Amino acid sequence: MSLRFIPSLAGIVPYVPGLPIEIVMRRYGLSEVVKLASNEFPLAPFDRVKRVIVEALDQLNRYPDGDATDLRAALAAHYGCVTEEVAVGGGSCELLMLLGDALLEKSDEVVFADPSFVVYNDVCRLHEARAVAVPLVDFTHDLEAMAAAVTPRTKMVFICNPNNPTGTYVPVADIARLVERVPDDVLVVVDEAYNEFVTEPDSQDALELQKAHDNVIVLRTFSKIYGLCGLRVGYGLCSPELKAALDKVRQPFNVNLLAQVAAVEALKHQDQVARRRAVNAELRAAMVEQLAARGRATVPSQANFMLVDTCDLCQPQDQVCQSLLSMGAIVRDGNALGCPGWARVSVGTQDEIEFFLGKLASLEVRAPGGGEGRPS
Ligand SMILES: Cc1ncc(COP(=O)(O)O)c(C=O)c1O
Repeated sequence: MSLRFIPSLAGIVPYVPGLPIEIVMRRYGLSEVVKLASNEFPLAPFDRVKRVIVEALDQLNRYPDGDATDLRAALAAHYGCVTEEVAVGGGSCELLMLLGDALLEKSDEVVFADPSFVVYNDVCRLHEARAVAVPLVDFTHDLEAMAAAVTPRTKMVFICNPNNPTGTYVPVADIARLVERVPDDVLVVVDEAYNEFVTEPDSQDALELQKAHDNVIVLRTFSKIYGLCGLRVGYGLCSPELKAALDKVRQPFNVNLLAQVAAVEALKHQDQVARRRAVNAELRAAMVEQLAARGRATVPSQANFMLVDTCDLCQPQDQVCQSLLSMGAIVRDGNALGCPGWARVSVGTQDEIEFFLGKLASLEVRAPGGGEGRPS
């Protein structure tokens, strides 16, 4: 190869998403496959949202509004801020990458939990910044240790709440204490991709924290509870200064036309969001109970997924999720996410959860009482 790629590429492994349902059906000759691997919402977008998407199809010969004026106005009205404080992106993932583009130089430091969302590490590597990974304690952010890890070289702190892949939630008051401890020129990124699933009473407090601190950005997305991940649209609430910086590094039309109209409409249906939150919480609790009844541990989650203990299953650890896959239950292997011996399983519909539990039971039958134990 004679092309001269940037040196940082050598350390980056492309993101490996869960396999699509159709591919798994074909590969294993299955007629039923359930995907619980990508923390997607199991239902289609709201009906009104589908309608505005169809109505907008005739405009696709035009570029979208490069400033996403209506969407940013709708978000500003929803959150009681001004449009200059709303940045939008092709998924909140794009905003994470843009934060790296705007802020990171070689040898800068970025503090985040380990394990947490894999993209934080990629953002660092791309810019040759140093990832300062602070181990979780009891699967939960150790915010004291994260604050202590901040040095004069630190540019950003990522806090994923609830955390992916563990689903654990930290009280916003604890995040506020971290914000008080770090210098004003360190950006604290509160990644709330799963916020709408949280049933803790302080779930909206990070918004107040952001309003009080220019060095805080709250990231959210239409990918999860709104069921719009296929369209790619997320947003950040932040200071006008940071929003203006993100505008300099983004591509001109970063949120597509269908995503903009869909997100504006989706935001109007908070009653349905609340219903989805309640159903998710019910199914999440029932799933934990059913697993516990079989002696299977889970990590307490405030999200639409949870870690399920698979370390007792009598298989090499990296084969458990592979076996489930071959039976049509696509879940995420914790080995690949820094949680060896666990599987990350999304909360699907009732039927999807039952399908997964059935396939898991067939592995349990094959492996009565003895696996290789939790890897160290
Ligand atoms: C913690 C976290 N942040 C951000 C994202 C990105 O979501 P999107 O780019 O679809 O908005 C995800 C996606 O799974 C996530 O888990």
